[in-house]
Parts: sequence; C-alpha cells; structure tokens
Amino acid sequence: MTARCSTYSAMATVGFLICSLVSITLSLLYFTELRWLPDVSRCRHYVSSEFQNGDAEPTVNNTKMIMFWTRAANTRNWLSFPENETTRFLASLTKCSRDCILTSDHSKFRQADMLLFYRSEKPDWPKRRYANQFYAHYTLEAPNWLHGSQYLHQYDGGINITINFRRDADFYFPYNLVLPVTSNAVYQPRIAHRNKTKMVVWPVSHCITESRREYYAHELSKYIDVEIYGACGRHKCSKAKHRPCVMQWEAEFMFYLSFENSICEDYITEKTFVPLQYEIIPVVLGGGNYSRDTPPHSVINARDFKSPNELANYLILLAADEQRYRSYFQWKTHYQIVGGIMLFLCRLCEALHENKLPLHSARTHYAEYWLGVHGEKCDNGLVPRMRKRGKW
Ligand SMILES: *[C@@H]1O[C@H](CO)[C@@H](O)[C@H](O)[C@H]1NC(C)=O
Ligand SMILES: *[C@@H]1O[C@H](CO)[C@@H](O)[C@H](O)[C@H]1NC(C)=O
Ligand SMILES: *[C@@H]1O[C@H](CO)[C@@H](O)[C@H](O)[C@H]1NC(C)=O
Ligand SMILES: *[C@@H]1O[C@H](CO)[C@@H](O)[C@H](O)[C@H]1NC(C)=O
Ligand SMILES: *[C@@H]1O[C@H](CO)[C@@H](O)[C@H](O)[C@H]1NC(C)=O
Repeated sequence: MTARCSTYSAMATVGFLICSLVSITLSLLYFTELRWLPDVSRCRHYVSSEFQNGDAEPTVNNTKMIMFWTRAANTRNWLSFPENETTRFLASLTKCSRDCILTSDHSKFRQADMLLFYRSEKPDWPKRRYANQFYAHYTLEAPNWLHGSQYLHQYDGGINITINFRRDADFYFPYNLVLPVTSNAVYQPRIAHRNKTKMVVWPVSHCITESRREYYAHELSKYIDVEIYGACGRHKCSKAKHRPCVMQWEAEFMFYLSFENSICEDYITEKTFVPLQYEIIPVVLGGGNYSRDTPPHSVINARDFKSPNELANYLILLAADEQRYRSYFQWKTHYQIVGGIMLFLCRLCEALHENKLPLHSARTHYAEYWLGVHGEKCDNGLVPRMRKRGKW
C-alpha cells in the first residue's frame, strides 16, 4: 500500500528522494486513515528520454486503436465492454463516422493510438512509451471521490489528455449533452396530472455522502412528503431494471430529488439526466451550472431557495398548479438529451482521426488540475453552510 512514485523516475535522484519522502508521508497518512487528499504532492515523474524515441506502429487499414490500460470492470453501463475483447466500431454499426478499434488486449500495445487510464486506480505505466501515443485519464467520478485518491499524484507527468465532465477537460465527456431541436410543437404530456398523487421521490443508495445532501433531504421531508427508495429508505422498487422504476415514479410523483453526492464543478450526473427523460421534475442540488447544462426551465435548483422549507413551499404551490407544473416539460419539443458511451467513443475516435486532440506533453500537476490547487474544484461545505445560516 505504499505510494510508489513512478517507473519513470530513474532520471533524477533528487526528485526520487523527494518522491520517496512524500511517499512515506503518504503511506503514514494512509495508515492513520486520515481522510486526506493528495493535493499537496510534489511528486513528479521524470520521463526518461529512452522511452520516447520511436512511434507506435500504425494500425492496419487506417483505423485508430483505443486501449483500456486500466481495467474498466465494475463500471456498470458507463463503459462496460466484455473484458479482454476487442470491439471494432464502424460507421455502419454505431453511427461513428470513423473507424476505430477498442480493446483491452495489452499485447497490441505497440499499435495503440491512445491508452485509457481509468478513474484513479494506481497507474501501472507501460514499460515503454511512444511519442505519438496519448495517455488519457478518464473518469466519471467527482474529484473528491476517495477511492484511489491516494494514487492521484502518480499521474503527474504521465497524462496527456484528460477526459471527464469538466468544461476544462481536454476532451469534454459529460454524462449527457443537451442539443436544440428545430420544432415549434407544443409538448403534450403523457401522464395525467391528477394521477400524480405523491410529491417527492428520492431514489438513493449512498446514505452518507460528501455533499451532506442527506441533511438537506431530511429537513425538506419535514415540510413535504419525501419517499425514499433504495438502500437508504423503506421503499423498494422491485423491478429488476432501473427504467421500469422511473416509469412507475413518473406516473405517481411530482418531483424527483436529483441531489449529487458531491458538490463539484460541472458535476451533473445521471441523477439529473435520467428524470429529465421522463415526465417528472428533477429537484437538483449540485456544483454544476444547471442553467447552462440542462434544458431551459427543466429543473428546480435547491440553491435558488433560502431553505428547504422555502423549497417545499414552492414545490407544493407548483404541484397544485397544473399549468405551471407542465411548463417544466415544454423544453421537450425544443431540446433533446443525448449521450451514452457510444457517442463519447465515436467523438473520441473522430478526434483521433482528425488530429483534434490537443498535442502537448503530459500534465505535470495532475492532482492539482483535478482537485484544484486548494481543493476548490469541490465545495462540500455548501449544505453545512446553508444549515448554519438557516439554523436547521
Ligand atoms: C483491412 O481491410 C480489408 C479490405 O476492407 C479487409 O479485407 C481486411 O480484413 C482488413 N484488415 C483488418 C485487419 O481489419
Ligand atoms: C483476461 O485476461 C487476463 C490475462 O490474460 C486473464 O488473467 C483474465 O482471466 C481474463 N479475463 C477474462 C474475463 O477472460
Ligand atoms: C391514470 O391512472 C389510471 C389508474 O391507475 C390509469 O389506468 C391511467 O392509464 C392513467 N392515465 C394516465 C394518462 O397516466
Ligand atoms: C452559467 O453559465 C452561464 C452561461 O454560460 C453563465 O452566463 C453563468 O454566469 C454561469 N453561472 C455560474 C454561476 O457560473
Ligand atoms: C504525451 O506526453 C508524453 C510525455 O510528456 C510525450 O512524450 C508524448 O509525446 C505525448 N503524446 C502526444 C501524442 O503528444
């Protein structure tokens, strides 16, 4: 469990000593189980020039090869592909305009155009590095997600391309994108308003979170009915799949709590985008810019209200006013929500073909980029501050 500096750190002995010191400190901190994030690390990876000579081999038939270097297992539907299998995705199959191969077969390493390092697992760098290969770090998790964060500094000096939901990523990969549609049609709701006899549904499986959303939801439930589904409540959706559950909820409930587990820059997840695809209004709480990244007049932002009590009052008013309630669905004929892993992979594939990825040497301060120099990329003090101010 020691934080190893790098396989590439052969060059600088001084650097190595500093790294070792940091590593030892890191290990100690790790073992004392302090919830410490390695945002102060000064560990650098000195990439020896012997690893840089020569290019990777061109892939046959002018395809591009994207290789999972770290395991992408347990990623649920985000990036699940059969382990050890190679997938070729072509225009005809997936609407990709270019031809790419996706693989986790490390034996083809020499041909890879891009290596993907997943989340913040320990980076197990390849023995050799070709100058024309991109090493990309991609993740869908919030920066303060603790798993693997002790390894973050080990990415310093290794990663050319960042792939994530942040606008400042080299390759922007949000959970979903909102695109305008040309239409003047007026949206006709499917669900009868009178059928919605319940107020707020909160599907939730992580009961204690970085964002302290649970305090907010608890306070909210004093003023409006909140039914908790999943591990943190007594209601269960017996359906095996998620979709039938959401269909059941949209038929019964007015609102859907879309509270993020972390309040981080641009971090808007499926918690918001799933209900948006149904007839239920998401009530959001997060660090994203919702007015920019969700359709206009589509969500209710808890941050626009002084307190959970005020929010509850608004929701109760809205639920009683069918016309106004429905106005939150009018965007549906003017915008569409697109996304999914294939879209992301196709865009990545195209960017590789068209040389659209920024060419630069590896980021030397990866952890600082990801967490912020002073951890400012996340603001999990938000709910505690609201509580203090509102005395709840
Ligand atoms: C390359 O393209 C040719 C012609 O389309 C095809 O027959 C061949 O199988 C391809 N090779 C590989 C390795 O995909
Ligand atoms: C994938 O390959 C590795 C190494 O070749 C092997 O250890 C592992 O069992 C394989 N996994 C699957 C699911 O086949
Ligand atoms: C309203 O609820 C009734 C009874 O559950 C159901 O039969 C009907 O299809 C629902 N109508 C709409 C438009 O949702
Ligand atoms: C959100 O995005 C909009 C549009 O880009 C911008 O005008 C606004 O200042 C942003 N809001 C915040 C809080 O950053
Ligand atoms: C990625 O960064 C490494 C190390 O700085 C560099 O050698 C390599 O040329 C870069 N790759 C690309 C495609 O720019």
